[in-house]
Amino acid sequence: MPPIGVGTFGSDRYGPDEVAAAVATALRLGYRLIDCASVYGNEAQIGSAIEAAMARLGIERSELRIMTKVWNDAHEPEAAVASVRHSLADLRCDRVDVVFVHWPFPNHHAAGVDVDSRDPHASPYDDEGFMRLWAALESLVDEGAVAALEVSNVSIAKPSLILADARIAPTFLEAELHPTVQQGELFQFAVDHGIQPIGYSPLGSPSRPERDRAPEDAVDLEASAVVSIAESRGLHPAQVCLKWAVERGQIPIPFSVKEEQLRSNLEALGGEPFSPAEVDALRGVERNNRLIKGQVFLWEGADSRLDLWDVDGRIAGR
Ligand SMILES: NC(=O)c1ccc[n+]([C@@H]2O[C@H](COP(=O)([O-])OP(=O)(O)OC[C@H]3O[C@@H](n4cnc5c(N)ncnc54)[C@H](OP(=O)(O)O)[C@@H]3O)[C@@H](O)[C@H]2O)c1
Repeated sequence: MPPIGVGTFGSDRYGPDEVAAAVATALRLGYRLIDCASVYGNEAQIGSAIEAAMARLGIERSELRIMTKVWNDAHEPEAAVASVRHSLADLRCDRVDVVFVHWPFPNHHAAGVDVDSRDPHASPYDDEGFMRLWAALESLVDEGAVAALEVSNVSIAKPSLILADARIAPTFLEAELHPTVQQGELFQFAVDHGIQPIGYSPLGSPSRPERDRAPEDAVDLEASAVVSIAESRGLHPAQVCLKWAVERGQIPIPFSVKEEQLRSNLEALGGEPFSPAEVDALRGVERNNRLIKGQVFLWEGADSRLDLWDVDGRIAGR
């Protein structure tokens, strides 16, 4: 896998054509890993941008790693398979490199609904239902339409169950990972089980939708250790976040539609590795500052959005 990829969630700010143009720019600059999702509503535009860029730049499909995700409203096996086939068609691929289950909770809500909105049919994690979904995705691996499977937005309790029952274990685990949310235990769990962590919102998602903003949120790009290391090394704070991610061992997938940011993010990977003192200072930035809050996925009877994360080690709602 490439050490860094490019995100494609437009955060309600950037439309499909703008994101697709950014993917084309990213490919020209040298990115080879693209993090897509059916729910981002832009896979068709991205697929045609990838196809055109491959022809223009002489990129072989084997050089690319294209990932997609099954959304919460497609957890039934037939719907999951249909979702992946739809993504394959939109992305103009015979095969995608990775498919993940975007969130481990089945629910449905319209795009952009208020954070207090709840789906009366939403349910907590249900291992039996999840494994039926997983088996459907395994069948797509068997037929060669998908190369690897991935879980996303899980705490340790869920992949522990999944690993026990899966015929094809997850190869990747995508989680919110940036200096103020390091998820050390989950990260170590993944490494110990041979699962490669992928870090989403690696810059602290400064352009995230309003529904994911709270007054207490910390700002990674303004964290004092991030800023002081950036100043001493002549880097942008965003580059410090990405260099930290790659040196720690996760694959960051920063998003940008701006060529100068895409270039600078790619350039973050070079140079002298962080010193032990710099690594310690960056470890100290941790605030368990989850920015992607997911409240609308909660089910009836859930206490708070913390129920999404099994904070006491037990799967909430079971
Ligand atoms: N699995 C999941 O549930 C999940 C959840 C969230 C995200 N993701 C994936 O992760 C990707 C990245 O996450 P994200 O988009 O939330 O956040 P992010 O990558 O942390 O932040 C993206 C924003 O950071 C700013 N930025 C980018 N490069 C910069 C630079 N060099 N200097 C200064 N600012 C810079 C841009 O803001 P401006 O646009 O204002 O310039 C950009 O919109 C998504 O696109 C998506 O593919 C997955």
